[in-house]
Amino acid sequence: MKKLFIIFSLVSLLISCKAEDKQHTQLIMYKQSEMAALMNTMYYINLDLKKNIVEGKTLGFFPERYLKIHTATLTDSTDRTSSFKKFSNLYIQNMKKVYTSSADSLKSTFNKAVNSCIACHQTTCLGPIPRIKKLLIR
Ligand code: HEC
Repeated sequence: MKKLFIIFSLVSLLISCKAEDKQHTQLIMYKQSEMAALMNTMYYINLDLKKNIVEGKTLGFFPERYLKIHTATLTDSTDRTSSFKKFSNLYIQNMKKVYTSSADSLKSTFNKAVNSCIACHQTTCLGPIPRIKKLLIR
């Protein structure tokens, strides 16, 4: 378990926003913010969601914990700008639609929600974008 945690931390270290310029300091004093933890949770839930959509399984309910995006502490608290708030509202709105979508528009609704992850990242945190793009259903 401990090993798994270390691997997980290293992986999130490599994909975190400022990994390129701050990697060295982060190796010494890396502590994941609430927001970074939430983001990783969202990533894995959406990986599952994608699988369930592709396999035509039932999706359950919108994960209420996503709403923490409005309050979770950020690594850099100045990231919570008015633009960040707009992008997080849009993201939550699009994500909720996935869970109420009809089967025939599910793929496009899901991709739209993932694109709203990417839209915010283009303004705040470029690092994880290639990874988020893997969530898209082709
Ligand atoms: C409203 C803006 C916004 C939205 C929407 C958003 N992100 Fe993020 N994301 C961020 C910011 C800002 C950070 C940096 C958080 C920090 O370091 O505290 C981040 C960090 C991350 C990280 C790196 C976490 C780490 O370990 O450092 C991943 C992975 C990630 N986001 C995936 C996603 C996924 C997947 C979605 C959609 C399901 C998403 N994000 C939606 C702004 C956003």
